[in-house]
Amino acid sequence: MNMEAIRELACKHLADRKAHREREKGFIFYHGERVGKIAVALREILLPGNSAKDEIMKAAAHFHDVAKGIEPHGEYGAVLVKEILKDHCSSHEIDEIAELIFYHQKRKKDPDYSEFIKIFQDADMLDHYGTIEIWMNFHYYAYMDQPIGESVKFYKEHFDQHAADMKNLLNFDVSLAIFEDKIRFIKSFADRMSCEANGEIYQLQKITETT
Ligand SMILES: [Fe+2]
Ligand SMILES: [Fe+2]
Repeated sequence: MNMEAIRELACKHLADRKAHREREKGFIFYHGERVGKIAVALREILLPGNSAKDEIMKAAAHFHDVAKGIEPHGEYGAVLVKEILKDHCSSHEIDEIAELIFYHQKRKKDPDYSEFIKIFQDADMLDHYGTIEIWMNFHYYAYMDQPIGESVKFYKEHFDQHAADMKNLLNFDVSLAIFEDKIRFIKSFADRMSCEANGEIYQLQKITETT
């Protein structure tokens, strides 16, 4: 597969797309690129030395949300990608790419799923946390034209439950460890934001003790 040509194709189809009102134009293109990299990083840990499907996962990552907005977007995306990639991949490659896209939202911890489907599902999930979660959160409240206090309230009142629900959907222990690290970061960020949004100086006592 010519990965550069596939990336350019994804850029052409998705970089100008605004798939969610409350997210920036091109989100699904950049998200797709990141998911491909995260999937390969997980694969290197879980299946070291087995790089045979890396290009399939990267190509699928580029287009996995191509049908976002037409639900279930995984199923529609699996159909669309066959048309989009028909001149760039063999029919076997397209079937493998479409399979990853088809199942990316069907997170059931089904033991029948291949390791690659499970890796792909976890990579997609992990890209929504850490700094990316904060980026999306800020975009959302900016789009809603709401003050910083609303974001603070979300992290205080709803984020823990949301994170617990998402955590349950991951397939691998390593994904869980990465997820928990990302959640710790978000919570420490939100903790500081709740102080500063309220006009307080974060860890003032600690700073004055050392000066
Ligand atoms: Fe998706
Ligand atoms: Fe996604």
